Amino acid sequence: MNIKSYQPRKLSIPVTEIEQASFCRLDDNLRSKTLEEEFKSGVKWQKVPTRYLKLSPEEIDSEVKRMKSIIGSKLYILGHHYQREEVIKFADTTGDSFKLSLEASKEKNAEFIVFCGVHFMAETADILTSVNQKVILPNMAAGCSMADMAPSEDVQDAWDFVSSITNSYIPITYMNSTAAIKSLCGENGGLVCTSSNADKAFAKHIQKGSKIFFFPDQHLGRNTALSLGINLDEIKVWNPFKLNGGLSNQEIKEAKVLVWQGHCSVHTRFTLDQVEAAKNDRKAKVIVHPECTNEVVKSSDFTGSTEYIIDVVSNSNPGSVWGIGTEINLVKRLAAENPDKDIFCLDPIVCPCATMYRIHPAYLLWVLDGIAAGLVINQVEVDFETRVNSKIALDRMLQL
Ligand code: 13P
Ligand code: SF4
Repeated sequence: MNIKSYQPRKLSIPVTEIEQASFCRLDDNLRSKTLEEEFKSGVKWQKVPTRYLKLSPEEIDSEVKRMKSIIGSKLYILGHHYQREEVIKFADTTGDSFKLSLEASKEKNAEFIVFCGVHFMAETADILTSVNQKVILPNMAAGCSMADMAPSEDVQDAWDFVSSITNSYIPITYMNSTAAIKSLCGENGGLVCTSSNADKAFAKHIQKGSKIFFFPDQHLGRNTALSLGINLDEIKVWNPFKLNGGLSNQEIKEAKVLVWQGHCSVHTRFTLDQVEAAKNDRKAKVIVHPECTNEVVKSSDFTGSTEYIIDVVSNSNPGSVWGIGTEINLVKRLAAENPDKDIFCLDPIVCPCATMYRIHPAYLLWVLDGIAAGLVINQVEVDFETRVNSKIALDRMLQL
């Protein structure tokens, strides 16, 4: 390979990142409005037939129920914990991204898997299910601003450049990335991880003396490396906007972990001040997702995936007080399901994940109407070539 340097392409801030604040508000009423009203938020939505625009949430609710019973066992609905209440109530299984990928891999009977989550999750489900099963994402505009910070071609160029300097790196990608990046990892001895197994994925390779190039979340990468005893100065950030990632050849050779400069716009809203206020003013225990910055993670009492957060909070003693640093739909659901505890979001501004939020119940109804009428709307399909190596990377994660 004759790569002389990594030339950044014309990268710009992803549209999904610019739109992230569109649903932020001061009141915490997250009840769905008609799609027509929600379109006013200013984010990009997928076009949908006009009949769905004016349906009231109640009308949609009874129609979704009816469609689910008409389609019956051919249908399996997966719901990520960040989905709205009016959507997740229809999920046959709910979970974090690891649990949902496991469920998709085990589901052999359903012909239609409707994924109420975001695009990378639906892609993963497609890779893990058989070719005759169809994975559907109700709204194709439901991406992930973090995944959008790592375009596949840029990651490939960066990987080629780093490999031309030293062959001691293993590529590991967070589930929140394109199938093409998962494929790159599969092809080069690496794997996929989620927030519930990043420590195992890192440890496996660090113990063998390998270095890690982690995409695309710098915070999960840094938090995981630090938790395994790597020093902060051994972790370098790959800046895709700069020539050669902004790093010298020496820095690349000496680092133990390289982290792509990506972040989650939802979790980086949480601050040290919020953690301290929760602890000092409300005497709360604090639990946060590992996509938060290291100063937030370090000052919290617990850190883990969405499934872990649910587990710890649900099994805590009655009367306990919890300040939570994760997406608001999950925090509100936990508060409603645990009325014997005082549960609140660390951030006083209510900011749902703007891409997860695009799965409005009207979109769910639209794709179910399609299935009932013999029409597959919004199928997510990964091409054969990408599928082979990304499946290898995913299988390595499932075997951890
Ligand atoms: P979990 O794997 O914890 O569900 O996280 C997925 C995600 O996108 C968090 O932002
Ligand atoms: Fe992506 Fe963050 Fe939304 Fe998760 S919460 S889907 S990482 S933008």
